[in-house]
Amino acid sequence: MRTIAHLSDLHFGKSDDRVAEAVLADLAVRRPSLVVISGDLVQRARRSHFHAAREFLARLPAPWLAVAGNHDIPAYNLLARFTAPFHNYRHYITPDLNPFMNDGEIAVLGINTARPLIINFAHGRINRDQIGRIEATFRTIPSTVFKILVTHHPFLTPPEVSGKSLLGRARLALPALESCGVDLLLAGHFHRGFHGDLADLHPRVERSILIAHAATTTSTRLRNEPNSYNFITIAPPGVSIEERAWTGNGFITVEHSHYTRSRHGWLRV
Ligand SMILES: [Fe+2]
Ligand SMILES: [Fe+2]
Repeated sequence: MRTIAHLSDLHFGKSDDRVAEAVLADLAVRRPSLVVISGDLVQRARRSHFHAAREFLARLPAPWLAVAGNHDIPAYNLLARFTAPFHNYRHYITPDLNPFMNDGEIAVLGINTARPLIINFAHGRINRDQIGRIEATFRTIPSTVFKILVTHHPFLTPPEVSGKSLLGRARLALPALESCGVDLLLAGHFHRGFHGDLADLHPRVERSILIAHAATTTSTRLRNEPNSYNFITIAPPGVSIEERAWTGNGFITVEHSHYTRSRHGWLRV
């Protein structure tokens, strides 16, 4: 069994210090096996913002794995944006933009979808090399290992959020996700929590793949939802997703969903 605390959209520089302290206190009690942060660690890619994010990461009570989001590259400093977009992220957070870990029970791959040369700064993209990397990484890992892919931009726009996917070339990547046996997709960006089965929600997908989007864990930029994170328990053939939300006084579980893997794919039980 493994437990993952899935945090997202921390937005240090525009975050709530009380909430950040409460998350650390909650994680210290719940002791996840791994913390995943699905992008937008900072608000403006400034050194002071990244410094605060690094201090937060240093206090996590578990190993962590992070990917960058669109806010982690400079928006207004165009020289930095176009010449060294990930300079501060690499320096303060991690030099590895596509991190990977495999402990024999779970294999987790992060893929960087943030792009400096995109017309709409908020959107993201996945490229052919990254799709190849996903396939090459997961194809060789046995199906007994639970395979998790982390991106900032989701492959699927949640039904309640109108509009197309914000992830360029997502359609190109979907067959690869199916063929190499990805079990779970983790993402953020919308600042709204969501989970479900990609096969139920996307007409092009046949393989049952769980998806979980985390809302913003510590940002003050809320989208009609409280700050929260997902606490995911992986105990094959079951997976549970708990939404731990900020009440103004601490974090509590506001939703707890269970899925089990059957011959027909993921079943919500
Ligand atoms: Fe965000
Ligand atoms: Fe974002």
